[in-house]
Parts: sequence; structure tokens; C-alpha cells
Amino acid sequence: MRIALVAHDRKKDELSAFAKRHALLLAKHALSATGNTGTAITKATGLPVHRYLSGPLGGDQQIGSAIATGELDMLIFLRDPLTAHPHEPDVTALLRLSDVVGIPIATNLATAEALMALLK
Ligand code: PGA
Repeated sequence: MRIALVAHDRKKDELSAFAKRHALLLAKHALSATGNTGTAITKATGLPVHRYLSGPLGGDQQIGSAIATGELDMLIFLRDPLTAHPHEPDVTALLRLSDVVGIPIATNLATAEALMALLK
């Protein structure tokens, strides 16, 4: 599967720990991420991650484009629901496109864990 991973700043540690826990499983899949999230995941796991631009600079839109054109199969996006982000419209658009195309998305750790069960 082609899996995109994104985490807002306050969720990056959570996503890095998640990726580390599931590194053996994730290693069998093609991973991509927004810029800083990708750097954090590679640092935590050593796994190769295709890095798009940083989210606020257009990375969320790039991932949205990849979803729209059928190039991604799953999105794990740990959003920070307690902090305002200047690129909120991009975040919303990305989630909307996931629903248009119908790929599984997780926006919190509990659902992300559930999605890992699909990969086994
Ligand atoms: P980042 O972007 O991984 O480059 O920090 C995430 C986001 O805010 O969408």
C-alpha cells in the first residue's frame, strides 16, 4: 500500500512513536509524508519516506493531489485539534478528497492503530 503520514507539530512525537512501534509492518509499504513529518519519521525509524513540501507550504495540497489521482491508498493524519493552523483550508481539503476517493483515513491514534490491523 501507498501510505501518507502527516502530523501537526504537537502530534509529531506521537506519530514518530507510532511509526517506530509499527516499523516492521510499515517497512513493507511505500511511505510518504509532509516535509517535517517525513524527517521525524525517518529519524525515528530509519525507514525511507518520500517527502512532500512542508504542510503549511503546500505539502497537504500535494498529498491531496496524489489522493485525487489515485496514487495513495491510506492517509494517517494526526491533527492537532486544539491549535489554529494557518493552512486549515488545505487540511480540510485533504480530508475531503480522501472521502471523495474513499481511502481509509485516520485522524487520531486510536484509528491509526486500527488501520495497522488492516495491513497485517
Ligand atoms: P509538516 O506539515 O510535516 O511539514 O510539519 C504538517 C502539516 O502541518 O500539515
